[in-house]
Amino acid sequence: MSLSNQFPDRGKVGPTPAMTTRADETFLNYVKDLRSVLLWGASKDIHPKANAEIQKEKIVIEPTKESVEAVRKVVREKIPEAGVWSRVYRATQDALWNRVSESYDLRDEEFLRLLEESDKMGPGSVTWDPDYVYPNYANVETHRQNDGYVGHPLAGLRYDYGTRIFAGNVSKDDQLHKAMAEKISAPQDGKVECVMDLACAIGRLTCQLKHRFPEADVWGSDISAPMVRYAHYRALEQGVDVHFLQKAAEDLDDFPENHYDLITVHILFHEVPTPVVDRTIANVYRMLRPGGTFWISDFPTLREGQKDHKGIKYTGLLGSIDSADNNEPYAPEFVRSNIEDKLKNLGFTLRYEDPEDMVVYGRVCDKPV
Ligand SMILES: C[S@@+](CC[C@H](N)C(=O)[O-])C[C@H]1O[C@@H](n2cnc3c(N)ncnc32)[C@H](O)[C@@H]1O
Repeated sequence: MSLSNQFPDRGKVGPTPAMTTRADETFLNYVKDLRSVLLWGASKDIHPKANAEIQKEKIVIEPTKESVEAVRKVVREKIPEAGVWSRVYRATQDALWNRVSESYDLRDEEFLRLLEESDKMGPGSVTWDPDYVYPNYANVETHRQNDGYVGHPLAGLRYDYGTRIFAGNVSKDDQLHKAMAEKISAPQDGKVECVMDLACAIGRLTCQLKHRFPEADVWGSDISAPMVRYAHYRALEQGVDVHFLQKAAEDLDDFPENHYDLITVHILFHEVPTPVVDRTIANVYRMLRPGGTFWISDFPTLREGQKDHKGIKYTGLLGSIDSADNNEPYAPEFVRSNIEDKLKNLGFTLRYEDPEDMVVYGRVCDKPV
């Protein structure tokens, strides 16, 4: 008897396979509630207090041991509740990824078979390379997900359920990505026939872009084979006709020039080293047709003379401890970069210059006609 036959199929939560046992599901709902109450409920008060102390000590936030230790010392000595906050953050993060992985691993043969079957099915398609050699920077367990994005064949499946818990109810039934796709600024002439969603992960935004632009040819690409394979399975489950491709965003030299109307990238750039960002944006400029639009949604950067933003604060407590404890090694580097100037130097026109607008609308970059 194969392992998977020991467990009755518990169906799906939206397009996502349910946890293998009721006990796993209950535990994860508990983790979700715990995070909602102890983390997001409390951070409103704790973060400003901790950040004020960190600023007083003039600590430079970097993803180095020294910097993180310096923040921890302040937190331990001055704001013990912030120390508890960061331990709850880390512990719940580990609890959620461990449980999701263990639960799906009980049925791994069944899921691997599903992926193999859907690789060959339409609508849409998936293209990936079983011999792909990942660059070192990609072998990070980002957000503490077990085996990261690229190290396990079920990484996409784990990411799907794990991010439902991580993001609380906002990622339920892809509402977040649906709202995002509706809000994305299209090219000013309104022509959208070919769309590329970079670092598409499990294709949530890619599928919603197809709903928004049903006549367009919509592609999602990601460096991770497990992600694009699962993205294709998930799109099939929803009957959405989109194409997925395993491809590093910085490795698009062989993609056609002046071709795409709209290229999107949601929360990739803070997760990769700066040279990857630089190569990606240069190629995107080349790939867009004149009048085409590049839409970037990511952390705000802390440009010279600019204050922290209302929406997302990635300095102080969060900037140091999240980077170190939540495995975001490249985030501080991105936050301190000036991607806006780099985009303009390439030739892009930014539709919004105000950082607050960029939080609301994303960085909307037009290639001049
Ligand atoms: C936070 S997830 C992106 C979420 C996704 N854009 C969405 O809206 O749901 C980051 C993704 O970036 C991918 N990734 C990491 N490095 C990459 C690279 N150099 N090129 C393309 N994708 C990359 C990872 O495999 C992962 O799927």
